[in-house]
Amino acid sequence: MNVRIAPSLLSADFARLADALAIAEEGGADAVHVDVMDGHFVPNLTIGPPVVAALKRATRLPLDVHLMIENPEESLDRYLEAGADWISVHVEATRHLQRCLEVIRRGGARAGAVLNPATPVGALADSWGDLDYAVVMSVNPGRGGQAFLPHSVEKVRSLRQAVLEARRGAAIEVDGGVDLSNAADLASAGAEILVAGTSVYGQDDPGAAIERLRAAARGGVRV
Ligand code: DX5
Ligand code: ZN
Repeated sequence: MNVRIAPSLLSADFARLADALAIAEEGGADAVHVDVMDGHFVPNLTIGPPVVAALKRATRLPLDVHLMIENPEESLDRYLEAGADWISVHVEATRHLQRCLEVIRRGGARAGAVLNPATPVGALADSWGDLDYAVVMSVNPGRGGQAFLPHSVEKVRSLRQAVLEARRGAAIEVDGGVDLSNAADLASAGAEILVAGTSVYGQDDPGAAIERLRAAARGGVRV
């Protein structure tokens, strides 16, 4: 299994997003993770569809748009129009998960569902047929630079088992506190996409940090 690295722009300089995109491209990132926060589902407020559209114009990398917003069904169309390639919604934020996933897929993007640390894997039991990827939050969502919650490794393993049992191809993404100390464990538990904010943009050489993270993850991949 090839582990993909998605640097999170949340830890980049918001006044220099084009530079952050260039760093991700040159560093060999597989996607760019874009954190959308509405000030309700999480206390912070970040960016919305116009900035996603601007990012789309500025990079060839897929945009992995993580919606930390209440009632995402009300704004999915705008993120699709903005050019989001992957869109994930929190299962805790919508009463209409299936509808959200269907709208995302119909709009031509990959559909993801995100689980907060306290939300069990079973919350996705009836959704495997509608999902392209499932995201394990390994911190409580809302800001970068938090400590990795260790039980997330076991959660990835359970999720991997659930995907296999459902005979579906959903990829598993992990978001929050991912760094060199946990990348191998996550990859060996079945994570295929690692989101990394501080451990990329918080480093002196973010491009090299992407490659280091990939090498660490590769160390954990079973062949
Ligand atoms: C947190 C966001 C993450 C964040 C990760 O709510 O969803 O994507 O950018 O940042 P680090 O890697 O610093 O924990
Ligand atoms: Zn995120």
